[in-house]
Amino acid sequence: MIILGIETSCDETSLAVLNSKRRRLKLESFLVSSQTKLHARWGGVVPELAARRHAETIIPLLQETLQRAKVKPQDLDLIAVTAGPGLITALQVGVETAKALAATWRLLVVPVNHIAGHLVSPFLTPANWKLVWQRQTWPAVALVVSGGHTELYLMRSLAKWQLLGKTLDDAAGEAFDKVAKMLGLPYPGGPRVAKLAASGNPAAYDFPRPMLKTADSNFSFAGLKTAVRYSLPMRPSAQRKNDICASFQQAAIDVLVNKTLRAVAKHNAHTVIVGGGVSANQALRDAFAKALPSLERKSRLLFPEFRFTGDNAAMIALAAAVQTNFRIPPVKRNQLALQANANWELWN
Ligand code: KG4
Ligand code: ZN
Repeated sequence: MIILGIETSCDETSLAVLNSKRRRLKLESFLVSSQTKLHARWGGVVPELAARRHAETIIPLLQETLQRAKVKPQDLDLIAVTAGPGLITALQVGVETAKALAATWRLLVVPVNHIAGHLVSPFLTPANWKLVWQRQTWPAVALVVSGGHTELYLMRSLAKWQLLGKTLDDAAGEAFDKVAKMLGLPYPGGPRVAKLAASGNPAAYDFPRPMLKTADSNFSFAGLKTAVRYSLPMRPSAQRKNDICASFQQAAIDVLVNKTLRAVAKHNAHTVIVGGGVSANQALRDAFAKALPSLERKSRLLFPEFRFTGDNAAMIALAAAVQTNFRIPPVKRNQLALQANANWELWN
């Protein structure tokens, strides 16, 4: 089955061609056009600008993706598109393009939830894909940490998820971005904070670890962000900035790792999955790797490859493959009625 994936939920236009045949998976081509530079001068993503840039970029990117995959439209079996959650104007570009292409090429459109994409993203790696079929992989506890979401799921298979908890205020990535802004670092802030943190002392500030000890699987990052704001001197030195970044990052990581591991123990999970933009954070990866052996049961740790941590169409195509269970469902008559849904939560 050859799937064209389309992702335009925020500030990356991405297309991918994924070939899935039973237990074999091959990413034929995969492109991301990032809008980072466009939004940097505004200090964050401007939805109208994002949508316009998606509209300008999507067709040339589509042509290049098909060319690189050496695939013609008539070779495709279905189109997978992110239908939510995300910025509505941005999502609409992907969804409407998918519908137009599907009508022209007589293909099925499969709407994919963006978070479902992040959940399956570690399995784009062939060695991990094999694990999907092994009984000892499941259940898994999956942490999604992105700019808009921080959620913990219990997964009984790649297609069966149950929400365990989520952030009650800011998402983890959002907290990184806001701390970056306070420090005058350019957008996108997460990677910048991580970079400064590498030269800072994580014990310099004793920032709060919100909800670290609560028995539920919910998170909160607003208080941590506020604590960082109050700790900021008028003109922080470079070293002070590094220390603030390192201490903030450590507090966020402590909460993410501890709460995930507690859920792993509670549900006797065999695997820990981490996905989303913040999963690119090396300190977070190291902290998980270091903490995992403390569990009674040996659990496997799965992170996406770095190229699949941020928003990308490869994970959207894979989520559609999982959703359709490797069989091509018939084209529905009413698929042109499909609408982007900015607030589409996975657990609804
Ligand atoms: O998944 P993603 O690309 O987009 C959303 O679905 O939101 O996640 C983007 C988020 C941003 O908040 C960005 O600052 C954060 O991921 N991020 C990082 C790192 N790389 C990206 N946060 C911390 N450390 C990083 N290395
Ligand atoms: Zn994302």
